[in-house]
Amino acid sequence: MPKLNDLPEKKGKIINVDGQTIAVYRDGEKVKAFSTVCPHRGCDIDWNDTDGTWDCPCHGSRFEADGALKHGPAKRGLEKIDVVVDDGEIKVK
Ligand code: FES
Repeated sequence: MPKLNDLPEKKGKIINVDGQTIAVYRDGEKVKAFSTVCPHRGCDIDWNDTDGTWDCPCHGSRFEADGALKHGPAKRGLEKIDVVVDDGEIKVK
């Protein structure tokens, strides 16, 4: 299981939890998690460390660290995934 303390603070990372690939962003002791699938046409997003955004390499959609749409062509933000931090481990609910 991925551990909270393996995630860099205020940064995004693509991780694998129980065979599921998810995008996570750590803010203190909290973790926000999203689908890695771009809501435009389904390419995989990547974390952009320079700008602190999630970017899609296919057609240039960008998303804020919290998954909100920054600009298209996607028309909505990243799909949220419910995760919990249990005893320092990240688990999908
Ligand atoms: S699939 Fe992501 S911008 Fe088109």
